Amino acid sequence: MDSARDTHGCQNTTKYDEEQNLEDDFTSSKLGTKEYWDDAYRRELHTYRDIGDVGEIWFGEESMHRVIRCLKKENIPANAAILDIGTGNGMLLVELASCGFTNLTGIDYSAAAVELAKNVLGQECLSNVKVEACCQEGNSALFILEGEAKSRKVMDFLSSPVELRGFDVCIDKGTFDAVSLNPDSTADGKVCYLRTLQGALREGGLFIITSCNWTKEQLLHFFSQGFEFQQELPTPTFQFGGRTGHSVTALVFKRLC
Ligand SMILES: C[S@@+](CC[C@H](N)C(=O)[O-])C[C@H]1O[C@@H](n2cnc3c(N)ncnc32)[C@H](O)[C@@H]1O
Repeated sequence: MDSARDTHGCQNTTKYDEEQNLEDDFTSSKLGTKEYWDDAYRRELHTYRDIGDVGEIWFGEESMHRVIRCLKKENIPANAAILDIGTGNGMLLVELASCGFTNLTGIDYSAAAVELAKNVLGQECLSNVKVEACCQEGNSALFILEGEAKSRKVMDFLSSPVELRGFDVCIDKGTFDAVSLNPDSTADGKVCYLRTLQGALREGGLFIITSCNWTKEQLLHFFSQGFEFQQELPTPTFQFGGRTGHSVTALVFKRLC
């Protein structure tokens, strides 16, 4: 495990660890708590205001390019409704917008992340998209909407299913990992996540997940109900003890009818 993964709480046991139980939870961590993300993004917002650094892009810039290459290859239209689940600093939205995608929604339950993302998007002069944030019961959401017509409120991805509907593409970069690490309810959280995702994504829509905590086999197992595996996106490999593994897994699923 490299140092970056240590600091991120990534616990991927690599795909060649065949003995593992597919449903096993790993050790919970503060990275699964809202307090952690609030603190982290409060600090990143402060830094951004000081020196203009957007902060951490989880799994690096290549992780965004990998997703966008996949969208292009799949001929996803520019006006497809795309949801970034747990958008953090919003940089994936910035990249998507700069690649021509126009109907983008990012959600995050951290108010500080929402504020940072709004700042970052504003700085990028993304005048073709509208940015809104709302707070309700301590939860927050960020919307980037095409035109003025849509106005919705969402909260925590795990507890606001009715507000999120009809997306053509849902993207998760590190958020399912965070949900899985929640010390209070790792199993419940994952079940809620799956239910919300199934509601948010239209039939035939794509779900693209990047994870450092779950192996390909575990993700295939977890998203076996209601989803069909489409492809694995190539991620960097590492070698250890004569064997090769991935520290990050990126998979594409299709929502079944
Ligand atoms: C590992 S960070 C990834 C951030 C961003 N996707 C990226 O790739 O840089 C996980 C993000 O998920 C958010 N998050 C975690 N649980 C969430 C939930 N239940 N609902 C909405 N956002 C959540 C956190 O606030 C944080 O921004």
